[in-house]
Amino acid sequence: MAAKTCVFLLIAITTCLTTVSQAHSTSSIETTTYQGKWKLLKRSIGVSAMHMALLPNDKIIVFDRTSFGPSNITVPQSKCRIDSATPSSGGSCFAHSVEFDPSNRAVRPLTILTDTWCSSGALSSDGVLVQTGGFQAGERVVRYFKPCSDCDWVENPGGLITSRWYASNQVLPDGRIIVVGGRLEFSYEFIPKTTSEKLHELPFLEETSYSAKVPNNLYPFLHLSPDGNLFVFANDRAILLDYVNNRVIRRFPTMPDGNGVVSRNYPSTGSSALLPITLSQNDGNVLPNAVVLVCGGTASDSNVKASAGEYIPAAKTCGRISITDEKPKWEMEEMPIERVMGDMILLPTGDVLIINGARRGTAGWDVAREPALNPVLYRTGRDAKTRFETLSPSNIPRLYHSTAHLLADGRVLVGGSNPNRNYNFSTVFPTELSLEAFDPPYLDGQSRPLITKMKPETEMRYKQRLSVRFRSEGKESVNGDRVYVTMVAPSFTTHSLAMNQRLLVLDAGKVVRREEGDEYVFDGYAPPTPALAPPGYYLIFVVVDGVPSRGMWVRIK
Ligand SMILES: *[C@@H]1O[C@H](CO)[C@@H](O)[C@H](O)[C@H]1NC(C)=O
Ligand SMILES: *[C@@H]1O[C@H](CO)[C@@H](O)[C@H](O)[C@H]1NC(C)=O
Repeated sequence: MAAKTCVFLLIAITTCLTTVSQAHSTSSIETTTYQGKWKLLKRSIGVSAMHMALLPNDKIIVFDRTSFGPSNITVPQSKCRIDSATPSSGGSCFAHSVEFDPSNRAVRPLTILTDTWCSSGALSSDGVLVQTGGFQAGERVVRYFKPCSDCDWVENPGGLITSRWYASNQVLPDGRIIVVGGRLEFSYEFIPKTTSEKLHELPFLEETSYSAKVPNNLYPFLHLSPDGNLFVFANDRAILLDYVNNRVIRRFPTMPDGNGVVSRNYPSTGSSALLPITLSQNDGNVLPNAVVLVCGGTASDSNVKASAGEYIPAAKTCGRISITDEKPKWEMEEMPIERVMGDMILLPTGDVLIINGARRGTAGWDVAREPALNPVLYRTGRDAKTRFETLSPSNIPRLYHSTAHLLADGRVLVGGSNPNRNYNFSTVFPTELSLEAFDPPYLDGQSRPLITKMKPETEMRYKQRLSVRFRSEGKESVNGDRVYVTMVAPSFTTHSLAMNQRLLVLDAGKVVRREEGDEYVFDGYAPPTPALAPPGYYLIFVVVDGVPSRGMWVRIK
């Protein structure tokens, strides 16, 4: 019975990713020997990258917590803040947020007034970074960062109805942002608000906190389902939430594990990604399949044990579940190495990079050991036996409070790690202020496709015809079957969770060679509905033979 369902699941997944897997089968031979490359971009950006977001101007915004005390960078005198944690100190000129420009590695210090510790965020549909909650004086604050050459954070002190510490965010089809949960907060709310808005209860968050001391269900994993409802995963269970009518539509099976005791959310921090959604023009009637992947985490009592000095191995398991299936079932897989606090980053190809974290222990102050230095590639379109590839190791441990983010050029930016109560450079795992870039195996030096023109150029509407003109330098010819176009939503990453991360494989249009020049044109369609692609900014990539172009920003509305 179970086997039957698995086969069915596999078929469904294979079918939904036909174009992707075609490309992979051809690129596998070229890439198995090259395992990617690390590069140190900056020894110190002055702060530790606990939270990270990418803006449509290609700048990266990083922040940690104002209550960390002195950082390694200061703001100009006029921008010093009153330190709400220690008001008697008369203020602090140490920055706890910076803007980083990956193109020239410039760092610009920013001012945060209230504590952003363990908070959440999302890029709004009009391209403003919206950050929510935090600690103490910051726990109900909503902060806005509007990209421009000289802006800074703008804070709205009463922006949230209740305090949100360890909550998660997702952009919705109507452009609002939903903020879910937080420590001892079993509810959700929206931004922006209507004047009469109240809190919406979500008992599921209380039900999945099996232990009051170690909740193991904070920073719940949120994924927007193709039908517009919200998939919410906490600890080892998941629901589909109709957030408009505050109704749980379905309850998914509990995620299995060998011992039945593994938790996947903070502090037993695993990670999760919505696998690529393949679009077609039939989507008005038939919704595409959506598959959620959850990887890593650790035993539910790992935190208790680590506090007593016993650092037990993290989980090796991943589970994937088709959330659009009539009878969804978890299909379990095993990573090459154990991992807690790993980030899962969707690459432009549709594969998933599992990076950062530790092999033993758990999330929290100084409770992890044995950094998981090797990223692992999860080749989405391959069969379960050959899906995982172990990649080149970094030599910088990235434990608690580390982050990763896809850049427009296809590299992955990696930063942070601070398992210490303050900035502390004399511990076994010192506070990390550096940023590195990881080149995934597709950046092995071979020539990459180059987008030369897009129509529409920067703004598109749902269902609109879309043409992407590209060159494929160094290639005699391009096989249209091995070309696809993906659209990636920039995420807000913290605590191993890339919130709002989403990758769409655009309707497989035809690829033709242009008469003049060595250019090709992909003719396809923009996503059909905002439930499939919430309004906002995305990066568009052309992928040829498994190698992505540089991404081009486009806004859909
Ligand atoms: C602090 O910043 C200075 C100069 O920007 C740099 O030389 C130093 O290495 C940094 N300290 C750490 C611990 O990264
Ligand atoms: C750094 O951590 C060590 C080990 O936990 C501790 O003894 C020391 O006091 C810490 N230093 C600071 C400045 O917090």
